[in-house]
Amino acid sequence: MNTTDLTQTPIHADGSFEVHLQKSGQTLKVGKEQSILNALQDAGHEVPFSCSQGVCGTCLTQVVAGTPDHWDMYLTPEEQEANNQMLICCSRSQTARLVLDL
Ligand code: FES
Repeated sequence: MNTTDLTQTPIHADGSFEVHLQKSGQTLKVGKEQSILNALQDAGHEVPFSCSQGVCGTCLTQVVAGTPDHWDMYLTPEEQEANNQMLICCSRSQTARLVLDL
């Protein structure tokens, strides 16, 4: 049995990672050239967003596990360091898996 915890494992060499949606139980792959928001939209999820540039905060999402790679200009440095929320239109992952409160 594979017991590797992907939320503690560095992101894949090809830049992809997976996002597990805690509420629906669904797991999505996010490619190197794709945002988490795009991956969710491609899978048919309706997620609130506006600027798609990490500025407005509309897409703010709670992080349950894994470590985000913050690219937004909305959260304070302290909020980014807490790693418990992220802007999914632009921020990515430092770990092979993120678990989001979606
Ligand atoms: S949509 Fe504006 S910060 Fe993500």
